[in-house]
Amino acid sequence: MYENIDFDNIDLTQNPPQEEPDRQYYYIAKARQYVQEKSRKKGRPLTFCVNTFGCQMNARDSEKLIGILEQIGYVKKETEDADFVIYNTCTVRENANNKVYGRLGYLHSQKKKNPDMMIGLCGCMMQEPEVVEKIRTSYRFVDLVFGTHNIYKFAELIVAAFESKGMIVDIWKDTDKIVEDLPVERKYTFKSGVNIMFGCNNFCSYCIVPYVRGRERSRDPKDIIREIERLVADGVVEVMLLGQNVNSYGKNLEHPMTFAQLLEEVEKIDGLERIRFMTSHPKDLSDELIEVLGKSKKICKHLHLPLQSGSSRILKEMNRHYTKEQYLELVKKIRAAVPDIALTTDIIVGFPGETEEDFLETMEVVKEVQYDSAFTFIYSKRTGTPAATKEDQVSPEVVKDRFDRLLHVVQEIGSQKAGALQGTVQKVLIEEINAQDEHLVTGRLSNNSVVHVPGGADLIGKIVNVSLDECKGFYYLGTLAEGR
Ligand code: 5AD
Ligand code: SF4
Repeated sequence: MYENIDFDNIDLTQNPPQEEPDRQYYYIAKARQYVQEKSRKKGRPLTFCVNTFGCQMNARDSEKLIGILEQIGYVKKETEDADFVIYNTCTVRENANNKVYGRLGYLHSQKKKNPDMMIGLCGCMMQEPEVVEKIRTSYRFVDLVFGTHNIYKFAELIVAAFESKGMIVDIWKDTDKIVEDLPVERKYTFKSGVNIMFGCNNFCSYCIVPYVRGRERSRDPKDIIREIERLVADGVVEVMLLGQNVNSYGKNLEHPMTFAQLLEEVEKIDGLERIRFMTSHPKDLSDELIEVLGKSKKICKHLHLPLQSGSSRILKEMNRHYTKEQYLELVKKIRAAVPDIALTTDIIVGFPGETEEDFLETMEVVKEVQYDSAFTFIYSKRTGTPAATKEDQVSPEVVKDRFDRLLHVVQEIGSQKAGALQGTVQKVLIEEINAQDEHLVTGRLSNNSVVHVPGGADLIGKIVNVSLDECKGFYYLGTLAEGR
């Protein structure tokens, strides 16, 4: 366990070990020496800033980067005028890429002010060869580029960057490797993401994720349970099990196990209060899982179930492997087992070939399911995916009009549903001091709704009973109730 390692006492006169994670412990120790030397020269600690784009998976990866940087001796800073700035990028839609290019210009100006500054780029966008090519040629001030498969090597790459004059680029196409026991620094003391699997095998025709995150690999359940037990011992009460498609967890393990079985094991962990997971693919959501959802005391009453489209024809084109009817049937079964579950979804508008009729079917499903909220996206053409080569791309004006209509319906339904628990007392995990009003703290219900309550920092990380006095659109105002 890395907590027990004394990085100042690793023998650096030896060659680096070949085995992981020992090799990275060696490089953490080595980078630490460089950082100590550099801060001595500067007369101040070296700082870092990690800027994360994209999903929960990336957020968790950033916690790993931060864990390593802190062991190396860097001090965290929220602003980008730091000695080492890292962008952990997303590429799921084109505007995610554009944002990064835009900001790189600003980073260049920072580097001119502080020539010792290091700039690192990693994450999904770096798995695209064209992106790396563009960075090599047009953004030569970048020091380090790596991808999604080798973030565990961060310390080794930092040492390489310290010892090199040029840009270090290390991108792997794929991997079957999972390295355990590396440092990680959690953003919250009381809740944590936990990777249960990496990669994706689904190849939805619009989606770049399988190309940038590689093939599906599940972590050994023993490693997952051990990690959660340690987190709980360290004060964590809520975990979010993370995977691109958690419903297919365990299929490629030496001793295969289902996601439902994993959930039952996680449920047994004493001291763990809440379990969330993300993301579910409807095609793999089993009856066994629904049964576990129904009887669990710890799994939160919230399911994110991406629909993408309500038209069976478009779903087929998207390679989603379910029809509108199958999706609706699934929702019925889930609601029968867990009547008060909150359902949220992702929807793409303007997939190539989407007609007005297809779109109206999506609207129908939205009205029928009555989602608590939905993320709506305009289709973005991702080079390399099958959908990108389709001829019948929908015109931007039509897409915009559909998008606005969909958003309107989603919001209307969301606000009607939002107040359902008004007047009841519910358990709330208090997460932070309210950003607008320091006399309030903000927390979440099991169903993921946000609640603001008068109170102070002593409540953070606690699960308390709250009377939900008033619903204000998308959040509740409450007061602490008896028996907390
Ligand atoms: N264009 C628009 N949205 C996309 N998503 C994935 N790929 C694309 C794309 N090419 C959306 C899906 C997915 C969510 C994470 O992002 O709705 O569920
Ligand atoms: Fe997450 Fe996908 Fe974006 Fe990567 S491309 S950060 S996996 S949403």
